[in-house]
Amino acid sequence: MRLLLATLFLAQVLLYSAHVVPLSNRVINCDDDEAHQVAAAAVQYINAHHHHGYKFALNQVEKILPLSLHGTDEMFFIELELLETVCSHVNPTPLEQCAVRPRIQQAVEADCDFKVRKHNGTFEVLRVKCKSEIKSSEKIVCPYPDCSLLAPLNDSRVVHAVDVALHKFNSGNTTNFYSLHEIGRGKIQHGVSDVEFIATSTNCTKEDAGSGLKACVEESGPNAHFASCSGTVVKLPGAVDEDITVNCAIHEPQPRSDAPQPAPVAPVHPGFIPSRFHHDLHFNTMSPHSSESNSAEHHLLAAHANRAVKRSLTGQPVQSNVRNVPLCPGRKIHF
Ligand SMILES: *[C@@H]1O[C@H](CO)[C@@H](O)[C@H](O)[C@H]1NC(C)=O
Ligand SMILES: *[C@@H]1O[C@H](CO)[C@@H](O)[C@H](O)[C@H]1NC(C)=O
Ligand SMILES: *[C@@H]1O[C@H](CO)[C@@H](O)[C@H](O)[C@H]1NC(C)=O
Ligand SMILES: *[C@@H]1O[C@H](CO)[C@@H](O)[C@H](O)[C@H]1NC(C)=O
Repeated sequence: MRLLLATLFLAQVLLYSAHVVPLSNRVINCDDDEAHQVAAAAVQYINAHHHHGYKFALNQVEKILPLSLHGTDEMFFIELELLETVCSHVNPTPLEQCAVRPRIQQAVEADCDFKVRKHNGTFEVLRVKCKSEIKSSEKIVCPYPDCSLLAPLNDSRVVHAVDVALHKFNSGNTTNFYSLHEIGRGKIQHGVSDVEFIATSTNCTKEDAGSGLKACVEESGPNAHFASCSGTVVKLPGAVDEDITVNCAIHEPQPRSDAPQPAPVAPVHPGFIPSRFHHDLHFNTMSPHSSESNSAEHHLLAAHANRAVKRSLTGQPVQSNVRNVPLCPGRKIHF
């Protein structure tokens, strides 16, 4: 009875919402090329609109539901699992060349729901909602005795390591003075601090900067250079000095429509750094005014989920005689 009511409700909702034709007969499997095309457009949208931390890559298409609109337009509801890569968000390296961060490094995993319209052959992301967490952090099995977990970004040892690594970078052969833009990750074990951070060029030379930081601002526009850096700071027990290594890749300026105002450069201070462990992916473009259509979509997706067939271990659908049922979720691309 309840199911019948839900079905009737769904049918009504669909009939009354403009331009939407009830569930199309079309079935897209989660690993069909078409599903991966929609997923690629969604992932591209995420990486273009996510301005901290690291780029994300597709790990799995969990669900996809196509709806016919008027004309040849279509709407897709797609649910994806994404994984953090090692490329920072300022790194222009194409996503395909960005390795996914290994699980042992506590990769961040995100689950996202998208609503994507296909119009005249091009995809447009209309809505996205994501939440993220460290992948299996509580379940991480450490194969080595000296495994270490992420430290909070405002941990004073992390901040110190970033500070001295950046100083070492600035004492190199660049002409401009670079300031800290963002701390990406920090890890501490046995007196060794491993950090990743983003530095940004300022309008000061190193001589300007040496005479006081107040007049330096982050460069913007065509002069703005970001650098993705990793640093290791080792202080052995009993040693006086720290051993500092730093490696930075300086990126060419990237066009960005919503660039923030140049910020005055301030010395690194833990008090200004959020006390989180990792950069999350938190998106919610759902408008509070569209609750009605959201609830219709919710029912639609729920009805769809009930039709999904689970894969058996052999990769074949468990009930191969059921027609019009998508084979979902798709395979895990990475882990
Ligand atoms: C559809 O796309 C094609 C090629 O991408 C373009 O030439 C055409 O003008 C577009 N049509 C409309 C109505 O936007
Ligand atoms: C600056 O140093 C880096 C690394 O040491 C080197 O790759 C680069 O060629 C140097 N640039 C100049 C202009 O000397
Ligand atoms: C950097 O830009 C700021 C703001 O435009 C300006 O006040 C400052 O003097 C500039 N610094 C240098 C060294 O040119
Ligand atoms: C990090 O931030 C948290 C919350 O803001 C704060 O309680 C903690 O003292 C900070 N740690 C350091 C080392 O500043």
